[in-house]
Amino acid sequence: AAIFGEGRLNARGYDLHDPVLLAELEAERAPFRTHAWQAGPLIAGEATGGEPVAALNPADHADTVGTVTPASAADVETALAAARPWAEAGPIERATVLRRAADLMERRFGEIFALLAREAGKTPADAVAELREAVDFLRFYGNEAARLDRPARGVFACISPWNFPLAIFCGQVSAALAAGNGVLAKPAEQTPLTAHLATAILLEAGVPRHALQLLPGDGAVVGAALTSDPRVAGVAFTGSTETAQAIHRAMAGALAPSAPLIAETGGLNAMIVDSSALPEQAVRDIVNSAFRSAGQRCSALRVLYVQKDVEATVLRMLYGAMAELRLGDPWALDTDVGPVIDAEARDGILAHVAQAEAEGRVLHRLNVPESGTFVAPTVIRVNGIADLEREIFGPVLHVASYRAEDLDAVVDAINATGYGLTFGMHSRIDDRVEQAVSRLNVGNIYINRNQIGAVVGSQPFGGEGLSGTGPKAGGPNYLPRFAVADMVQGHA
Ligand code: NAD
Ligand code: ALA
Repeated sequence: AAIFGEGRLNARGYDLHDPVLLAELEAERAPFRTHAWQAGPLIAGEATGGEPVAALNPADHADTVGTVTPASAADVETALAAARPWAEAGPIERATVLRRAADLMERRFGEIFALLAREAGKTPADAVAELREAVDFLRFYGNEAARLDRPARGVFACISPWNFPLAIFCGQVSAALAAGNGVLAKPAEQTPLTAHLATAILLEAGVPRHALQLLPGDGAVVGAALTSDPRVAGVAFTGSTETAQAIHRAMAGALAPSAPLIAETGGLNAMIVDSSALPEQAVRDIVNSAFRSAGQRCSALRVLYVQKDVEATVLRMLYGAMAELRLGDPWALDTDVGPVIDAEARDGILAHVAQAEAEGRVLHRLNVPESGTFVAPTVIRVNGIADLEREIFGPVLHVASYRAEDLDAVVDAINATGYGLTFGMHSRIDDRVEQAVSRLNVGNIYINRNQIGAVVGSQPFGGEGLSGTGPKAGGPNYLPRFAVADMVQGHA
């Protein structure tokens, strides 16, 4: 059995209703309320120069969170030349270093919660989930390394999104490192400060300087340069389906045919609530799945199918539950829904809502604070999932009703999107659940619970079709993709 950390299976929990913990949290994060972090390329452990730009808090554009120096083309070249696999250490030593990084991260939870709130708009509850997932990845992949009897591939490009700036960054990087690779890490443009802090912690924990290079910067510049350079032995990518497709094309023209692309991408995720479901439980899980993290999870619920017989009850209770949601400053301990990541994201979501409004399809909407990039949790009527032309990455829930005899047609419609990341179902009739899930092409299926927050080691996470290449993150098949497929005698 895998042992994560010191006798613990997963990272420590934080009960945000415990007054002792809250006092500790306030004391730990208070110094970082106005702190300004810095991020820039870290190549062979050294920061490089360049023109820094200000990073702003999405909830409050008057709050400057720090400064960021994007990597130049010359930095990318220097990093590619400096990067080497972590070949000198065996799996036990690599696991020890990754565990040490996990411990350091847990110790710095005050700073990390502050940075996640101010750079990424994460509420304390979201920050707890994010830190725990990052720590779990570091320990899990470290432990998995011991089972991996295969050589590393070389140097991996790890390209991560802004919506899990710590957890997914650490997940990709630690998997590549655990398998003995070197890493060129390219974090999202919106969240380089968190990536810089994580990289500094990994280096402090003992990852050698040649094995980890940080290259913040533009996807189309830094990311594109990495994914089209033949010195790169593989790419781990999490982000939109469109970017994964662009990376796939770039790699095909430049990298060795054996270089893997491990891509975790977007979803059009549905939940079915039938007439046998417990409405209170279903509504709690709908609210959490659709609106937590301001809907900015790839796993988030986008389209709710409610059986017609119970639709009026479920929607009435849903609006009641939404009225309890507290929107606002992600620093505040009782905030449920913070801002979306930036003005571009907000404007794209609001354009979608405005179109639905013009067509008379907005069923329900909350009020929002007026600064920053807040989007009100919104419920929109649709005929079915086929009405959605794209993933709306925010707190917008689409609702369709269906009749019991149409369950197969609903499943067909979900499959027909081509996406297959998460699916939820609330029903107390096993045959109906079986009828639905036996034909669904979806990576993660959740019955009678919310459909976000897969737990590393217990719920390997990843999609099918347009939602990803696999293997699933946080599962036993992930690490082998970062190593060469078969042990060849005499081949290092
Ligand atoms: P994105 O695709 O815009 O960016 C992701 C990363 O790719 C960023 O670091 C970006 O700079 C880089 N990039 C952009 N263009 C590139 C190029 N041409 N070459 C190389 N790199 C390039 O995605 P995002 O907006 O940061 O994240 C949100 C998306 O991520 C959503 O679609 C969401 O569903 C998805 N996501 C998926 C998962 C999952 O596990 N399946 C998890 C989180 C987020
Ligand atoms: N792994 C994250 C979740 O399950 C994306 O919500």
